[in-house]
Amino acid sequence: MSNFASRFEKYKNEFEWLYMELYNNRASLDKLIDEMETMYTKRSEELKALDTLREQNPNWYKGSDMLGITLYTDLFADDLNGLIEKIPYLKELGIKYLHLMPLLKMPHPQNDGGYAVEDFGTVDPKFGTNEDLLKLTEKLREAGISLCLDFVMNHTASSHEWAVKARQGDPYYMNYYHTFEDYNIPRWYEQTMPQVFPATAPGNFTYCDDMQRWVMTTFYPFQWDLNYWNPEVFREMSMAMLNLCNMGVEVLRIDAVPYIWKELGTSCRNHPKVHTIVRLVRIMMDCICPSSIIKGEVVMAPHELAPYFGTPEQPGCHLLYNVSSMVNLWSSLASQDVRLLKEQLNTINALPKHCSFVNYLRCHDDIGWGLDEADERRFGIDPLQHKIFLYRFYEGKFPGSYARGMLYNYDPVTLDARTCGTCASLCGIEAAQNDNDLELAIKRMLLMHAAMMSIKGLPMLNSGDEIAQLNDWSFLEDPDRRDDSRNIHRSKFDWGMVRFKDRSYTLQYKIWKNLKKLKELRSANPCFNGEADVTTWDTRNDRVLALIREFEGKKLICLFNFHYEPQGAYLPLISGNYEDAFTNTAYQVENGIMLKPYQYMWLIEK
Ligand code: GLC
Repeated sequence: MSNFASRFEKYKNEFEWLYMELYNNRASLDKLIDEMETMYTKRSEELKALDTLREQNPNWYKGSDMLGITLYTDLFADDLNGLIEKIPYLKELGIKYLHLMPLLKMPHPQNDGGYAVEDFGTVDPKFGTNEDLLKLTEKLREAGISLCLDFVMNHTASSHEWAVKARQGDPYYMNYYHTFEDYNIPRWYEQTMPQVFPATAPGNFTYCDDMQRWVMTTFYPFQWDLNYWNPEVFREMSMAMLNLCNMGVEVLRIDAVPYIWKELGTSCRNHPKVHTIVRLVRIMMDCICPSSIIKGEVVMAPHELAPYFGTPEQPGCHLLYNVSSMVNLWSSLASQDVRLLKEQLNTINALPKHCSFVNYLRCHDDIGWGLDEADERRFGIDPLQHKIFLYRFYEGKFPGSYARGMLYNYDPVTLDARTCGTCASLCGIEAAQNDNDLELAIKRMLLMHAAMMSIKGLPMLNSGDEIAQLNDWSFLEDPDRRDDSRNIHRSKFDWGMVRFKDRSYTLQYKIWKNLKKLKELRSANPCFNGEADVTTWDTRNDRVLALIREFEGKKLICLFNFHYEPQGAYLPLISGNYEDAFTNTAYQVENGIMLKPYQYMWLIEK
């Protein structure tokens, strides 16, 4: 019996049950299982060996030594071969997980940063060839770095072969998408479907002249939503996904997964059938390529997240983006108040052990101000007013703001807006007028990273942040890029700045050295294991967050002052002698401790 067969044996009943619930089509199920087996046969011996290794250590991605980074291949190193040459740089920074922004074949220049895919099995010539990708995955494996790639599940580019055939009127491929001969049904959908890009791409449907039909396009008009009611779509997309894993992709970032199931009369987000599909994909991966894991891109309200993990017995995604901690960290920084963050961390910390997150401060996308409104109201915070404060603050338009960012998708009807900008610019480095401003901005940036690297999960940097790269406003002059303000933080990596990281008087040195130190301290301390118990403590000071991490009898106390003035934290339960791992300073804690402006501490009992 092959490994595939013995693994599948375990899941067969469940897999068939779930599949039939979705499609009720035996013939297509048999075809799918046949193709799954073929995928397994095509998997290389080297990857099969990795599968066996990781089956014995399924928590490999939860190690305290994990640190990720996310970057655009072309902006960082021109192409895949260039990237191979930059692996030593990533190693020097301590990277173990590399998320490359989309690099599969895409239309140019309009491609939503690569999220409009023309061919799920071919690297875009701009980045190189499939052989280059294979070479890269091999080199990354040698360097102990796991590659993460996007799998854009919800849609294809309107220039994808399937869409081209649909456009020509081929009914088989028209059924790959949601198309309608008049606007009647789209109108019904619009009544319950919110908009993703209300300013840059309003509405959820686009009229296609060639086909003389309306097509569902939740994102941009050139991104056609796939029809997962059609089992052929599910089969083709699953095979494309497994094919990427066979090329050595160890983490699949399933893009916009909440959107994949469309049902009239619903929001077409987080539909229960989405979870069925995620579970089916997980089973396929556990049977064919168990060394690869799934990271879900679920940018949804906090209460929608848990189902994407499934249950411990029937898990779904291995990892999700910790969007809500990210947003709460930025909210705490602006308001110098940690109450909402603390509540949100309590919610996350209460999730069962199989739920793991990728923590981050910035990524290629905007910051959408989705805070927990019930929590806000409990604290007497008006959700809309707070949101307006946040986006105005990070736009630099609020009195006293040190941030320099841009609005994204401002909606004059709902007054919703999101924020774009690099970490350094949002923390005040761009606006700093003097040494004092700059010192404070650096402190903010390090505080934010220290906090992000202390909460439960796998920390991930955004390329450029390690050298405090600022906003690049030049996109405003490029007609192909100026309408999407996310481009302000999607700029060429500044290799010229990298050499400054070794000169002790520079900004780059202060950021790089301290981020690296955070990573090294994490790696050396088992309390940072992803399985650690993490709790928040009350400090009787809403400006200071206290996190306690405990693992195998060891304890670490993490403190963060989100205020620009010194603050005390009342912590009678930890009275005793401690050392701050970060500065090696000894502290005698008697009921409490004082923190300097924006100071953070990792206290270990002596
Ligand atoms: C995800 C990506 C975003 C893209 C969208 C549509 O949210 O992160 O950049 O615009 O999907 O594919």
